[in-house]
This record gives sequence, structure tokens and C-alpha cells, in this order.
Amino acid sequence: MKHDISALDVLLSRASTDDLEAPAPTGEELETILSAVMRAPDHGKLRPWRLLLVRGDARQKLAEKVVASMKRLDPDVPEKKIAKRHDRMANMPLTIVLGMHLRPEDKKIPLIEQELAVGAAGMNLLNALHATGYGAVWVSGDITYDPVLATELGFPPPHALAGFFFVGTPKKPDHETKRRPVAPYVAEWMGAPVTFAADKD
Ligand SMILES: Cc1cc2nc3c(=O)[nH]c(=O)nc-3n(C[C@H](O)[C@H](O)[C@H](O)COP(=O)(O)O)c2cc1C
Repeated sequence: MKHDISALDVLLSRASTDDLEAPAPTGEELETILSAVMRAPDHGKLRPWRLLLVRGDARQKLAEKVVASMKRLDPDVPEKKIAKRHDRMANMPLTIVLGMHLRPEDKKIPLIEQELAVGAAGMNLLNALHATGYGAVWVSGDITYDPVLATELGFPPPHALAGFFFVGTPKKPDHETKRRPVAPYVAEWMGAPVTFAADKD
């Protein structure tokens, strides 16, 4: 661990960033970080999360497939948008594609619960990266829901992508973003339906 902070401090200080540089975690350290996904809550022990590591020369190939997906989904996609996505996919120190190995036919575990488990895995991954001093951001965009791109990456339907995690060392260490207080998002149920102060936003 690069940072000597408590687990709760980790949860209360994580913030996304795409302002990243090398190094990204490798070897045993990366394996330890990735192991955090195996602690995600998971109804039925389906372990629906899959982690695809994209680094080195493979980043260029991913960038090309992502650009092809963007053009497939929108033939009029602006060049500027293509250039930005290509740049990020080709240059981030490490991209982890979070995939979902889904079983829609499962009679006991609804699809939403399988997807929620993958979401929890993604959250654990972000926190584990933060706890070890790395930075990350989870991004999606319409390409995430392109079954052709998903198939090219190893997730043919019914499997799918949950998103792309850009990972590296934050250029600005200890970057933080302000958070709202939680109170408007909490209520005490007393027997009647509640409304939350946050609902009025
Ligand atoms: C499933 C999912 C998909 C997301 N996709 C994008 C995205 O495509 N672009 C983006 O800017 N942020 C996206 N975000 C939000 C960022 O990951 C991040 O949470 C947001 O910028 C707020 O920063 P914070 O994590 O520090 O609160 C996504 C978040 C989730 C959970």
C-alpha cells in the first residue's frame, strides 16, 4: 500500500480521474487489486464479472475497434469525438474492460441482480485502485452497448460490456472532488411512503 489510510478513508475520499500517467499497476500488485472484485456481493455465486486487461500495443487495436464501433453506431459521428476517444483508448496506461458473463435463462437469479453484482465488482475495483494510490475512471458511452464490439472483445450476446476503466497514476495526487452531504438521500421509514429531499433536485 502506498497510502497508510483506513478503509473508511478510502471509501470517503475516492474520486474519479482521467488525468492519468504511467505507471499502472502490474504483476502481483495488479492481481491483488483485481482480487477485490471477488468480494463483490453475488446472488447465486454466478461470478458474472470478467476483467479484460488492455495495455501496451493492444491499446492501439482496441482504439481502432472502438472507432469502428462509433462509426457503425453513427455514420455522422464528429471527427473531434472520434479523435478524443481514440486518444484515450490508445494512450491510457491501462484499460480494464469490465464484461458481464450473463445468464438470462437463470430461473433463480434475475438479470438485474447479475448486472448489479457486476456493478458492485466495478465499485470494488475503483476502491482497490484508490486504496493503492492509483487513479481510475469508469466510462461507457454508446459503444459499450454495441453487441458487435462486445463480441469482438469476447462477449457475444447474451454477454455484454459494463464499461471501460481507465487506470494509471493520477497526475495530481490526492485529487478530490466535493461531495454533497448524504442527509437528503436518507429517510426513516415510519409506515407510510417516503419522499426524499434529494427527489426535488
Ligand atoms: C456504469 C457507468 C458508466 C459511466 N460512464 C461514463 C461516461 O461514459 N463518461 C463519463 O464522463 N462518466 C461516466 N461515468 C461516471 C464516472 O465514472 C464518474 O463516476 C463521474 O465522473 C463522477 O466522478 P466520481 O466517481 O468522482 O463521483 C460512468 C459511471 C458509471 C457507474
